[in-house]
Amino acid sequence: MKRPLPFAAAVGLALSIAAFATVGAGCVRKAPQPTDAYKMAADAVHVALAADRGVYAKMVVERLMNEEKVIRATEHWKDEHTLPLPAQMLRLSAEKARQGSGGVWYGLISTWPINKQNGPKTPTEKVALEALQAKPDVPYYAEETLRDHRYFTAVYSDPAVSKACVSCHNQHADSPRHDFKLNETMGALVIRLAMN
Ligand code: HEC
Repeated sequence: MKRPLPFAAAVGLALSIAAFATVGAGCVRKAPQPTDAYKMAADAVHVALAADRGVYAKMVVERLMNEEKVIRATEHWKDEHTLPLPAQMLRLSAEKARQGSGGVWYGLISTWPINKQNGPKTPTEKVALEALQAKPDVPYYAEETLRDHRYFTAVYSDPAVSKACVSCHNQHADSPRHDFKLNETMGALVIRLAMN
């Protein structure tokens, strides 16, 4: 099987093309910085993930569980023959992406996690959650070194896009918060792109 282009190489290529185009057009505009290319790549991954997450929550979970009451979404979905939770769908997809890519990692974190493992772990994650709480529409970008690997880390607000998000978290016994409202920030989506 053909190995996909590692992310660092893809970003490098995009950057060269952008720099070439800038020179070619005789533009006085500043050449794009390396982080611009990583931001663009992370933003593109985020658009697709957020769209998928919203569609699954609304068209599948909210419709089938809350409106039509056909099937529930539960943590033990395999044993109980139910739908996986939206957070589990994202984790399953992240595992697949990691196997097939040259360095893309993503996951959910929150200040009020149902699953304690989803609390912020790195200093960047902690700062990002605070920044997003104040300004949910402004993504938080940083570079991190984790286990000797350099990453470009982008953190985006994860809002309650559907009533299903709010009702499930507010009713969950392990949730530290029971007053989430529609469209409010419930946590964050972290995307890491390998830089080396
Ligand atoms: C049917 C219940 C249910 C629905 C619907 C649901 N969640 Fe969750 N969510 C959970 C559970 C349970 C976890 C912890 C699961 C895990 O980590 O395996 C979780 C995890 C999360 C996390 C990670 C932090 C934490 O609480 O552990 C975020 C952020 C989150 N959900 C946001 C949302 C958003 C936004 C939506 C709607 C798009 C949503 N959830 C829909 C039950 C639900």
